[in-house]
Formats: sequence, structure tokens, C-alpha cells
Amino acid sequence: MRIFSGIQPTGRKHLGNYIGAIRQYVEGQERSAASGHDSLYCIVDLHAITVAYEPTELRERTYDTLAILVAAGLDPQRSILFRQADVQEHAELCWLLSSVTALGELNRMHQFRDKSLAQRELVSAGLLFYPVLQAADVLAYRAGEVPVGEDQREHLELMRDIARRFNARFGGEREILVVPEHRIPAVGARIMDLQDPTRKMSTTGGSEEGTVYVLDDAKTIEKKVKRAVTDSEDPPVIRRGPDKQGVTNLVDILAACTGREPDAVAAEFAQARGYGDLKAAVAEAVIAELTPVRERYADLRSDERALEEILGAGAARAREIARATLAEVRAAMGVGPAA
Ligand code: TYM
Repeated sequence: MRIFSGIQPTGRKHLGNYIGAIRQYVEGQERSAASGHDSLYCIVDLHAITVAYEPTELRERTYDTLAILVAAGLDPQRSILFRQADVQEHAELCWLLSSVTALGELNRMHQFRDKSLAQRELVSAGLLFYPVLQAADVLAYRAGEVPVGEDQREHLELMRDIARRFNARFGGEREILVVPEHRIPAVGARIMDLQDPTRKMSTTGGSEEGTVYVLDDAKTIEKKVKRAVTDSEDPPVIRRGPDKQGVTNLVDILAACTGREPDAVAAEFAQARGYGDLKAAVAEAVIAELTPVRERYADLRSDERALEEILGAGAARAREIARATLAEVRAAMGVGPAA
């Protein structure tokens, strides 16, 4: 099955992106290579322009993001790594799919509502259209599987609806577009802010202190984890539950970083005298996970020409696939000249 996912070149990538998404990309690369299928990972610069941004920084952030992906284990030989705007079929398909997308559905998307409330100036039409472009990203490749964090579940459902509606309207007997499945990890699909465990860790809405960045050094990670908000239960109780969001988040991070079940991790610390032991173990595991990535990143990021070459080669491979889909979509819709 072909795998596709996208990541924004905005801000600094954090532990939520890493555990919820990037690790799944690397795992997907191995799985799809073993079964002879492609995996595509796209840096979505066209999505990044839907909120206020700095044009001179966009390309820089794209390189940052690519260097993180490669440092985390994505291999440009085995996966197709590319920049969204380099493959113009994404923007065209977005427009074509708008004809089978209901305005009411776009208006109801939680991310649109949250982000438009957070915008201090212009709420762009691009923000409303964000999920249609996201659908185009995946559907252009007829990908079957999309690794994402929990916050993307709603966008994936919409994407599936769009594909189904397109096939019903234009496909006749044929499935022109593949209806994709999301792949949300069992552990770590929603990493929370360490300072406010009722909110997800995020580049835009979160706190600096509560957000662990992929490129934070060991000392910074330790400081942030040790100051993580837990609760004031006395004596402290280490278990997971909706009334223990801070502790649950720490247990989940530790479980994700060490490849164990969250309940087993909680049980191991059940007898601990305070939250300090748990925090020390979390800090150690996160540092062990991120240090090699940070070290490889430094080398990769310094060679922008090499990064641009990776993107160029990836776009050429991606374009081949997207072009074939677009030809069928145009033909089925009666758009442009007959083939
Ligand atoms: P972005 O860059 O905002 O997020 C990238 C990935 O990180 C996941 N994620 C998290 N996972 C766990 N805990 C968190 N706190 C957390 N925060 C973020 C996101 O779920 C995402 O998988 N809309 C996409 C970009 C995109 C895309 C696509 C994804 C554009 N086109 C096509 C899949 C397929 C996004 O949120 O990127």
C-alpha cells in the first residue's frame, strides 16, 4: 500500500510531531520498502501560507524540516521527500476537488474554527480551504495509508468523504480516487503541553516551557520535563486517567520513547515516592531519543544545496505519479481538451 503524509514547515518541530508523526513515517518507510510500495513525505509550504507568515523564512523552515526528517531516519533513496509547491498538481487538484466539497463541512472543521479565532488580522480563505488542499495532497497519489497524529482525524474523515463523493459523481463504475485510511499511533497520538496538559503540544498555541523541541539540547529537555505540571495529590499517585492529565502525558511519552505499554510503565512507577522518579526517567528517554537526531541534523542542515537536490529529485518522482492521476481526474470531469 502506498503511504503519504505531510508536515508543515512552520515554527520548530516538537516532541508531539516527532512521536505522533515522524516516527510513524520512518516505520512506514521500512514497511512500504519491504512490500515494494512507495512512501511519500511532503513538506507542505502551501499550507503554511494560510496563516500569517514571513516570506523570507519559509524556505529556511522548509530546509529545517527536511533536515529533521532525514536526521530522524527518512532516506531520500527509499522514500520520496519533496516540497508541495514543486508539484503544481496539488494546487490544481485542490481546485477540482472543491466541486465535491461541501462548504458547510469546511466551516465545521475544528482546526479552522480554532485557527480563525487565533488569527489577529486576516482570516484567509486559504485557512478554510486548508483541508481541501490536504485531501488533494493524498488523493493525487492514490495513497492508501496516511500516518498522522490524533488532531488530523477530522481532516482525514473529510478527505475520505471527498474521495467517495468524487468517485460517485465522476467515476461511474470506477474508483478513480483511492479512499485512504488514517494511521494514528496507539501511544502518543496526542502529546500534551508540559505546562498545560489540557492542551496539545503545539508550535502556535502552546507555551515555550511546555514544548520540547526536537532540536532542544539535553539540558533544556531535562529542565522542561522536570518542571512539567502534574498534580498535587498527596501522597503522589502514578496512574493514567482523565483526572490525571499531566501524569498520563508523562507516562505516555515514556511509553512511546521506550516502546512499552503505558499501563506497564505506570505500574512500574506505582510505588514511587514522588513524581521526581517518573520525570527523571522521561527526561532520560526523551534525551536518548532526540540526541542522535539533533546531532545528525547539524551536519545535514549546513548543506542547503544537498537539501535542495533531495527536494528536486523527490519532486520529479512525485510529479510522475500525480500527473497520471490528474490526467484521469481531468478526463473524468470533462475539464480541458479530450485526451
Ligand atoms: P503539522 O506540521 O501541523 O503536524 C505534523 C504532524 O504532527 C502531528 N502532531 C501531533 N501528534 C501528536 N501530538 C501532538 N501534540 C501533535 N501535534 C502535531 C500532526 O497530527 C501531524 O500528523 N495538516 C497536517 C499537514 C498535512 C498533511 C497532508 C498530513 C498537509 N497535507 C496530507 C497528512 C496528509 C499537519 O497538521 O501538519
